[in-house]
Amino acid sequence: MLRSMLRVLLRKHLNADQWHPLERLMPHGVDGSVQLTGFLAVTSAAPDPPDRTAAVNRRLSPQLSQEREAALQRDLCAGLTGKTMGPARYRDRVKIATVFNHAGGAGKTSMVRDVGHQLATQGQRVLLIDLDPQASLTKWLGVEHVDLSETVYPVALEGQALPAPRSVHGLHLVPSHISLSLAEAQISGQIGAVLTLRHALVQLKDTYDVVLIDSPPSLGQLAALGALAADHLIVPVLTQQKGLDALPGLQSALELYHRLRPELSVALYVPTMYEGRRSHDREVLQALRDILPNLSPPVPLRGAVWLDSSSAGQPVGVFAAGSPVHRDVQDLTRSVMEALNLDVPA
Ligand SMILES: Nc1ncnc2c1ncn2[C@@H]1O[C@H](COP(=O)(O)OP(=O)(O)OP(=O)(O)O)[C@@H](O)[C@H]1O
Ligand SMILES: [Mg+2]
Repeated sequence: MLRSMLRVLLRKHLNADQWHPLERLMPHGVDGSVQLTGFLAVTSAAPDPPDRTAAVNRRLSPQLSQEREAALQRDLCAGLTGKTMGPARYRDRVKIATVFNHAGGAGKTSMVRDVGHQLATQGQRVLLIDLDPQASLTKWLGVEHVDLSETVYPVALEGQALPAPRSVHGLHLVPSHISLSLAEAQISGQIGAVLTLRHALVQLKDTYDVVLIDSPPSLGQLAALGALAADHLIVPVLTQQKGLDALPGLQSALELYHRLRPELSVALYVPTMYEGRRSHDREVLQALRDILPNLSPPVPLRGAVWLDSSSAGQPVGVFAAGSPVHRDVQDLTRSVMEALNLDVPA
């Protein structure tokens, strides 16, 4: 029943049966149900910002240097033409993945924190980037008193290099701050700003093995900044109706991002908060298996540990090492490593 409803929904929103890996999505037009607010000043469709916003942008955000702007334009052209961005050596070493879903509460932040920590305990050099002004990832790792200059704000608005990260629980974190929400409006007023994080990460070359980016629950400029910085997207999907409802909007977003970064792909879809005793969850999981490629095993719904570990500001691997929830995290980490083609320890 649910599956047939889903097919109707997909047919209505997704132009027939075209839910496929990104490479195969692009030629098909889509009438997605979600507006991508002010996406990319670099696209011709984006309107000029109102004068007042432009004035504020000029005051708060010094213009990018000519050299930096030229470099960004080169990256942009590479994205548009499908040529490799950045040195091949860099692309072979560091894996940059953005955990993305515009729907709220899908498990993005938990995944970035706990998979990131698990990878670090397995010897990977891990950088996490918190792009959400809610700053949940930052708080859930126990990081406080963050200054806006430590966030991606100066990267996105001033063309600066990535700020020095905080060191916490054996990994590095570029934290977030509520004022990062200012960047939403300002990025759209600055040409190429949405590609600045990509550019900054390319500069890191072989400092890290893995970069995981926590995307905000929106389809705004910060979400685009994160998605366009990645080589791969990881998409958690709730195994509930809300998870299915998010799919058409997701596809619209992925198509847009794909236009600027044709090599960007969804490495893994992850069914989250799965309660196997509920028939609803089982049906949704089956529907996801029917339509999504690269689907990992589901992450079970397990209340208390996730909430308590967040209050404690600790990853599950620290807060509840050896627990069933920690084993869930280890299983998910294995799926992520396989999807990103990271070396899996014996
Ligand atoms: N497997 C799980 N079982 C039970 N609760 C979980 C599980 N994973 C995460 N949670 C909890 O679910 C809530 C939502 O998770 P999380 O914040 O990671 O999602 P999100 O997609 O980042 O949300 P947002 O869109 O608001 O940023 C959090 O309170 C988290 O602690
Ligand atoms: Mg989150």
